[in-house]
Amino acid sequence: MDRVRIGVVGMGGMGYAHCKSVSELENALLTCVCDNEESVVRERAAEFGVRPFTDYREMVGSGCCDAVIVAIPHWFHPDVSVCAFEKGLHVLSEKPMAVTVEDADRMIKAARDHKRVLSVMFQRRTEPVIRKAREIISTGQIGEIIRTLCVDSWYRTQAYYDSNVWRATWKGEGAGVLINQAPHMIDIFLMLGGMPCRVEARTRTRFHDIEVENEVQAVLEYGNGACGYYYTTTFEPVHGHYVEICGEKGKLTLHSGQLKFFRYQGGISRHIAESEDMWAEMEFKEEKLEIPPQTVQGHISIIKNFISAILDGQEVVSPGEEGIHSVEFCNACILSGKKKKPVDLPIDRKEYTDLIEELKRNSQPKKNVRIQRATDPQYRK
Ligand SMILES: NC(=O)c1ccc[n+]([C@@H]2O[C@H](COP(=O)([O-])OP(=O)(O)OC[C@H]3O[C@@H](n4cnc5c(N)ncnc54)[C@H](O)[C@@H]3O)[C@@H](O)[C@H]2O)c1
Repeated sequence: MDRVRIGVVGMGGMGYAHCKSVSELENALLTCVCDNEESVVRERAAEFGVRPFTDYREMVGSGCCDAVIVAIPHWFHPDVSVCAFEKGLHVLSEKPMAVTVEDADRMIKAARDHKRVLSVMFQRRTEPVIRKAREIISTGQIGEIIRTLCVDSWYRTQAYYDSNVWRATWKGEGAGVLINQAPHMIDIFLMLGGMPCRVEARTRTRFHDIEVENEVQAVLEYGNGACGYYYTTTFEPVHGHYVEICGEKGKLTLHSGQLKFFRYQGGISRHIAESEDMWAEMEFKEEKLEIPPQTVQGHISIIKNFISAILDGQEVVSPGEEGIHSVEFCNACILSGKKKKPVDLPIDRKEYTDLIEELKRNSQPKKNVRIQRATDPQYRK
């Protein structure tokens, strides 16, 4: 095979953008598209000159694609993916790969059983600053991590939440900010700072008329005794992210895309123990970081990597085995917030599935839906 035939499931904002991206790649061919809204899928299929499907099962069984990109509401990602793996296809799932860790486990198992590629659309992993931060930490330059922080604020209007029936409902989306806006930074935060072993979270809803959480604050504990703090919201103007990863030998800060690395002159433990000056400070210097510009847009970069993983066995930048981490963290925050107790990770799969099923049962249809199909402006070309 020298060209991967791709089918895209979901013709909304992201699915449409992915169709355009795939159409521009030399070693991929868009062959089919699927959406359960017939008029929408027909229009898109005509635009790209590909086969339309209204049922993903028919598409993955049709033999017209080798791989699928799944860009429909999160709840459906696992079923579409598992169905595709069973038909021998490879899967690139939009984030979050699943709403529950139990479902994410199912996707990973199916990919392994069928020896197929499972990639998750965490395009921020391809940003040069993120790659650099990861390199600094993985090469031990900040030493053992002792504290982490992630503040990730967003801003959304009620019109955004009202733009589709599934948004910001337990039934349609399975959570709020944690499952929709926050997964990208959670993924990066966990990739850099590691997975906590215990989460104590408070979740609540303010300003928006939605049933899911739009504000989360969580205190984290790590296996090595490190501690951390996490905050996210969708009602904060002048928004952005701030991450701190503090180690024994240095500190990394990432402020809305700006990475700084402060290297200490030695390790903290030794300095604290051996310094004879009662007011001594740890000496440090800010390293000058060489960060190349991003040459390929993030989504396209992940799609290209997915194709290369299929064709040439290239290592997957955002594999399912890592995509599950943000799902686990999100589930832990909701479980802790709803049950008002600290939660150990890995979380109890059954306890979370039971909780989410109850939340779905009590989920209310939205009152003021005004459908709008528009790609997030930051991803418009
Ligand atoms: N990686 C990113 O940067 C990014 C950005 C935005 C959205 N997303 C993710 O992409 C996914 C889709 O989001 P969106 O903004 O494109 O949503 P959207 O509402 O614009 O589009 C969803 C589409 O899926 C279709 N659909 C729903 N259920 C279906 C089913 N069972 N079978 C076939 N089609 C179905 C709908 O008719 C709609 O056309 C979500 O999981 C979201 O989190 C990722």
